[in-house]
Amino acid sequence: MATQMDEQLSMNQVYINELSKHTGQEVTLKGWLYNLRSSGKLLFPQLRDGTGIVQCVVFKKNVQPEVWDALKGLGQESALIIRGAVRADERAPGGYEIDVSSAEVVQSAHDYPITPKEHGTEFLMDHRHLWLRSRRQHAILKVRATVVKAVRDFLDNDGFTLCDAPIFTPAACEGTTTLFEVNYFDEEKAYLTQSGQLYNEATAAAFGKVYCFGPTFRAEKSKTRRHLTEFWMVEPEMAYATLDDVMNLSERFLSYIASRVIEDRKEELKILERDISKLETIVPPFPRLHYDDAVKMLQEGHERGELENRFEWGGDFGAPDETYISGHFDKPVMVHHYPAAVKAFYMARDPERSELALGVDVLAPEGYGEVIGGGARATSLDFLREQIAIHELPEEAFNWYLDLRRYGSVPHAGFGMGIERCTAWMCGIEHIRETIPFPRMLYRLKP
Ligand code: 4AD
Ligand code: MG
Repeated sequence: MATQMDEQLSMNQVYINELSKHTGQEVTLKGWLYNLRSSGKLLFPQLRDGTGIVQCVVFKKNVQPEVWDALKGLGQESALIIRGAVRADERAPGGYEIDVSSAEVVQSAHDYPITPKEHGTEFLMDHRHLWLRSRRQHAILKVRATVVKAVRDFLDNDGFTLCDAPIFTPAACEGTTTLFEVNYFDEEKAYLTQSGQLYNEATAAAFGKVYCFGPTFRAEKSKTRRHLTEFWMVEPEMAYATLDDVMNLSERFLSYIASRVIEDRKEELKILERDISKLETIVPPFPRLHYDDAVKMLQEGHERGELENRFEWGGDFGAPDETYISGHFDKPVMVHHYPAAVKAFYMARDPERSELALGVDVLAPEGYGEVIGGGARATSLDFLREQIAIHELPEEAFNWYLDLRRYGSVPHAGFGMGIERCTAWMCGIEHIRETIPFPRMLYRLKP
């Protein structure tokens, strides 16, 4: 049987982010103890409930002695239900305080490993399952959720149909060096998908404008702040579309995401101390830079002593090159017409200069590097067959894909954007490992 206290405690439950609607009312808050200060006959528990953190004030004389005793000395992250009156207070973080009338400890926690003192990154990553509760991590993942929502809203409202691609695949999409191989019944091998693009090309021929959005996998041996082995990619693909269409879509897409983050995640951007002016500049048009001109920029940089190595035409950009190029612009820059030799087998070629691919990388400012990669796809059956052979890919695994060139082949184009790179950029944080709840990296599979 529920006691009177239980009943009282479950009445009028609200969330911390709705306190403004309950000024002066008695409410119940259910959460966890974020922090506890005490001073004589006063306790100041800070309660977090997933939607925010609020400071509560407990006067010894206002609560039952057993409530006082239970709260006093309660450990960080104990589960706690608090009842009290909502009071607007300008000095309080968040603008409200709770004058506590009663409380119930749901679980008393001791020795929570993450304390307000500084911890090393490895320690925090080992405790990622708990670290997620920290204010900064919470803010980053709220931004991620908004990025994802913005991505879906934009594409859903722009005539794209969601058509998800499989995760087990029979062949490589983005080169064989970063494939994760898994056993798939009876000695057959499967690979974890690197990109849903090839399947997008099939669904685009069925639906016109499509997107897939899911986890993708790369056995990246590089340990950089931009690489995960499992990351989420959103990939729009359009039938009857060109490289220009991809660039136009990219700039509208990224601008929309940035505007939604600015609008919907004000509190979080404040916690992250993000310079919002850097996000406000993300509006169309974005500068477009031919690969040839990007190379000139790098070579001039070298001549001026700003870059150590001289960049030779034909190479792919490394992180320092991308940072140098994007440093010339306060908006994302779209570098197009890369040498085909550094790009994937499916890229369409420039009809005037066949050594160039009709591909584009969108480089984010502030050193975030490539956030979008895409372009126009080759349409000719013979050309693709030849490329599959040159790239030493098994043709039988691509036979279904080649059907798309046999039956109603049209110019088509699309791109992929990594959610984590985009989120890191929006948040202005150093490393993408904090932009996904449980990152997978070269040396990290746990927790
Ligand atoms: O440039 P990528 O490799 O392009 C493709 O996979 C195309 N098939 C996409 C398409 O046209 N449909 O990857 C696209 C984006 C990159 O720009 C980057 O944002 C992200 O995916 N990305 C990664 N993010 C985190 N960790 C990694 N290891 C990543 N590799 C790519
Ligand atoms: Mg790329």
